[in-house]
Amino acid sequence: MSGDGSTRWVGSMPEVYARCLVPAVFRPFARELARRAAAHGPRRVLELAAGTGVVTAELLAACPDAHVTASDLNEAMVQLAEPRVPGATWRVADAAQPPFPPGSFDLVVCGFGVMFLPDRPAAYAQVGRVLVPHGRFLFSTWGTLADHGFERDLVRALERLFPGDAPTFLQRVPHGYADTARVADDLRAGGLDVVAIDTVTLEGRADGPEQIAVGYATGSPVRAELTRHGDLDTTVARLTAALTDIVGPGPLTAPMTAHVVEACRPA
Ligand SMILES: C[S@@+](CC[C@H](N)C(=O)[O-])C[C@H]1O[C@@H](n2cnc3c(N)ncnc32)[C@H](O)[C@@H]1O
Repeated sequence: MSGDGSTRWVGSMPEVYARCLVPAVFRPFARELARRAAAHGPRRVLELAAGTGVVTAELLAACPDAHVTASDLNEAMVQLAEPRVPGATWRVADAAQPPFPPGSFDLVVCGFGVMFLPDRPAAYAQVGRVLVPHGRFLFSTWGTLADHGFERDLVRALERLFPGDAPTFLQRVPHGYADTARVADDLRAGGLDVVAIDTVTLEGRADGPEQIAVGYATGSPVRAELTRHGDLDTTVARLTAALTDIVGPGPLTAPMTAHVVEACRPA
């Protein structure tokens, strides 16, 4: 997965992600994760795949007594996030191999990151290694594409523009881990107990179709697949027009469904 650009945020991508996608798509679930994290009264929190720090900021606000270590694979993400969310300790790190001693944290949190990991049972075993006994792992993974209004309509617009040759990142990665039975099996295979898997629908809001088109086409790994279709600015303009045809000029709202998962390291 890592070789095809699906896990890379480089150059201007983190800034676009933070400006367009975080407020529309990721912040509502960041608040939901932080609310659930606070219920555990954690003291030492590790965040994996923290991106531009939206979950991190919500965690710091919801858990004022916690020390939060936030990490992400992409240096460009951490460079953008660190000055924006200075209350956390930031590290560039692969979530599959968290570089921390055993039993370092009582809570591990990951917002929409596990879908990027090629071997999830092995990654979950690593989460168990860095947790204390009875420590918790709280994460989110998207439901199906059909249950994410913005991404469903964006994929329709992409398929209109590039019939038979549209980017498939959104189907393959963010929505490629929507089966809750598989999530539970992977957690158990990684040595964790499943506490709860809740399917949660929240409302996304965007100023208009341009925010969604620009966000995904230039601030997500969809970008890597679009570059083979010629000039990116031209593609973004055509994509915005195609999306406007489908959803209208905005402002936009859309239901977005995700699974919010809580697991526990056994004693
Ligand atoms: C959809 S973003 C989510 C970011 C943030 N948690 C949020 O809710 O906005 C996915 C993030 O996963 C990161 N990522 C991808 N593969 C990773 C890996 N193997 N280890 C750590 N982070 C990874 C990306 O750099 C990106 O920041």
